[in-house]
Amino acid sequence: MRVEHIGDCTLYLGDCRDILPTIGRVDAVVTDPPYGIGRDGKPRSSSRHGGHKGYEFRGWDDGRPSQETFSTILSLASSVVIWGGNYFADLLPATSKWLSWDKGQRIDQADAELAWTSLSGALRVITLNRAEINQDGAVHPTQKPVRLMEWSLAQINASGVVLDPFMGSGSTGVACVRRGCGFVGIERDAEYFDIACERIRKAYAQPDMFVERPAPAKQLSMLGDE
Ligand SMILES: C[S@@+](CC[C@H](N)C(=O)[O-])C[C@H]1O[C@@H](n2cnc3c(N)ncnc32)[C@H](O)[C@@H]1O
Repeated sequence: MRVEHIGDCTLYLGDCRDILPTIGRVDAVVTDPPYGIGRDGKPRSSSRHGGHKGYEFRGWDDGRPSQETFSTILSLASSVVIWGGNYFADLLPATSKWLSWDKGQRIDQADAELAWTSLSGALRVITLNRAEINQDGAVHPTQKPVRLMEWSLAQINASGVVLDPFMGSGSTGVACVRRGCGFVGIERDAEYFDIACERIRKAYAQPDMFVERPAPAKQLSMLGDE
């Protein structure tokens, strides 16, 4: 296990099943676990859109987290957002407040994604073109737009310290830096961990990180649907 401290962020390289029992309670969890929909073995993307490199799925999407892992996550905070919640609905309690990301394009991929939340309230929708990921700098096969994670944090009025046990390239961490929250991230793939560290360092270094960003360009993303 490796631990990096960057500003108010603590980042662990390791398996969240080992690390979660050691970190204690946090103020919120916002995460995007592997959906277990079998993206392994799919060919690398050959996209030239947005200049991002081809990807491979390196064995992490062949299974979803267990009931035990979700129980541990839910025990750590009262405010929890889990993207891909429709893939885990049988492992999570019933809820009224779902979040929906309308990807703003009707192509041959999912029109929208769903997040389960631990809160009560009305379902909320954000429309955000999937090409936003290219503007962020596409570095992970199932990367979420930073603005989507900022919106997720706003939906639960997140403050204090936010945990993402399936950090990937660190989109939740970047959103936390922009919101002024502390962040604990866990990622077991060393390459994605290093990318997350770099993105979070850059977020702290950005002088205009609280300035509203321009609307997303109209550009097709070749990223997968996760
Ligand atoms: C769906 S991706 C998250 C992508 C992230 N939202 C982003 O924007 O980059 C899930 C991530 O969880 C990581 N992962 C899977 N199982 C894990 C585990 N047991 N502990 C820590 N990380 C894990 C994978 O390596 C993958 O990067």
